[in-house]
Amino acid sequence: MTPLSPAPTAQLSFTLNGTRRQITDLPPTTTLLEYLRQTGHVGTKEGCGDGDCGACTVAIVGQDAQGQPQYQAVNSCLIPMGAVAGRQVITAEGIANGQLHPVQAAMVETGGSQCGYCTPGFIMSLFAAYYDGSLSNDICIEGNLCRCTGYLPIRKAAQALASVSPADDFSAALASKASDAPADLPALAYIGSQQQFYRPTQLAEALSLLQQHPDAKLVAGATDLGLEMSWHRQHYPVLISLEAVASLQQIIQTETAVEIGAALPLSQIEALLHGVFPSLDEMLHWFAARQVRNRATIGGNLGTASPIGDLPPVLLALDAAVKLVSAAGERQLPLANFFQGYRQTELKSDEIIYSVTIPKLPAPGTVQRLSQSYKIGKRGTDDISIVAAAFTVDLDADRQVLQARLAYGGVAATPIRATAVEEMLVGQPWTLETLRAVKPALQEAFQPLSDLRGSASYRKRLVANLFEKFFVDMQSETWRKL
Ligand SMILES: Cc1cc2nc3c(=O)[nH]c(=O)nc-3n(C[C@H](O)[C@H](O)[C@H](O)COP(=O)(O)OP(=O)(O)OC[C@H]3O[C@@H](n4cnc5c(N)ncnc54)[C@H](O)[C@@H]3O)c2cc1C
Ligand code: FES
Ligand code: FES
Repeated sequence: MTPLSPAPTAQLSFTLNGTRRQITDLPPTTTLLEYLRQTGHVGTKEGCGDGDCGACTVAIVGQDAQGQPQYQAVNSCLIPMGAVAGRQVITAEGIANGQLHPVQAAMVETGGSQCGYCTPGFIMSLFAAYYDGSLSNDICIEGNLCRCTGYLPIRKAAQALASVSPADDFSAALASKASDAPADLPALAYIGSQQQFYRPTQLAEALSLLQQHPDAKLVAGATDLGLEMSWHRQHYPVLISLEAVASLQQIIQTETAVEIGAALPLSQIEALLHGVFPSLDEMLHWFAARQVRNRATIGGNLGTASPIGDLPPVLLALDAAVKLVSAAGERQLPLANFFQGYRQTELKSDEIIYSVTIPKLPAPGTVQRLSQSYKIGKRGTDDISIVAAAFTVDLDADRQVLQARLAYGGVAATPIRATAVEEMLVGQPWTLETLRAVKPALQEAFQPLSDLRGSASYRKRLVANLFEKFFVDMQSETWRKL
């Protein structure tokens, strides 16, 4: 067994608004939000408690895609206290230094707050964006809901600050500090009376801990698991966090493939792989919101095995493979073989999802690849899918279909490919006639369920119509480039 380097302790420490905090023996489901409110930091609000509204947004110091320290907006209602250990947390109470922070002053100036309940969350999202230069982009507040002002004054506040180059205590603090990147996050072996929380820094330690604790639950960004713990009061006596294991956080690009570490936050994948796989760019754009993407991982999206997870259709259409590791070794399998049934996967209890490998287009120039993804939800971002779809069609020089992969979420117990229709397409000319010929078969390819989000017949029509939309989009020069 590989020993975990730090001595086991029943104490956690982290920095809150510049002050070191030490905590002893927390109840197991305590989230950062609960801790903040219980300790009088009530500027951080609880709205939904499940990551949807952004009222609980705080900033933590993480790293950007270049490995530089960065303030990142996160939902404190989803973060277990174990994951906060060793980190720096900044709340709305911590940013005014004798006078309003520029972000606060801009919100006052533009009248961006009415009832004020959502305001601290907006402030903290704007605070993070103020330092990373993303204020001109509405994505910085896509995860914050305001039920009364309308967004115009809030957006005006953001725009007023967008051209300012921050030079203050917070930018200086960031410049002088190492990031709380995986390599900098300390290992942790927290042994409380009700919960053990381990955060190894080496893969071998994580695998060894899994052997020692066969019933342990792995946790990465906790954007799924946080909900299980807070809303569903699910108790996991032993949690093993993967977010400090550096080998799970890298992207390795070769001439033939891209390997994405399972524990790399989606916001970093967005930045590092932008332009490499258009269908991945597109789906990440619609995936949850900034606060969630700053924490959520690809391993968590596969590990949760939700039939409406948004990344599996994209990865299936790109013919991805998943690498699983255990103390006994590693194995790689096509993602299509990973999903076994509703919320069931090939993952064994001693295994960790290590990475996802996406092949690049073979022999560029000889094959034309068309690839895109689509997400249909009740609203744009910050919502789960009714149906998600991703398509990859490879054409030869005569525009005949060499191979096609049509993958869907939300239409079966697992993410799934329409393999029979794929076979019908191979060898056919890529024309409207071909598309029309396969549409009826596509509409009947799956037997989806009806639920509150959409009826079975609506989903069936989406399955066929999204493929038609793909065909039309691929003919168009004006297809939106993100
Ligand atoms: C507000 C909100 C919006 C969301 N929107 C979307 C959305 O638009 N699309 C979507 O698909 N999902 C969405 N989700 C769900 C969630 O964000 C994703 O599933 C995310 O990818 C989970 O990643 P995580 O790192 O947070 O996983 P965690 O919550 O840490 O873990 C999830 C599961 O995966 C397991 N796991 C994690 N990492 C590994 C690993 N490396 N090896 C083996 N098992 C592992 C855990 O044990 C757990 O069972 C949303 C969630 C919230 C709260
Ligand atoms: S309370 Fe709504 S996102 Fe956390
Ligand atoms: S100001 Fe009231 S919800 Fe935003």
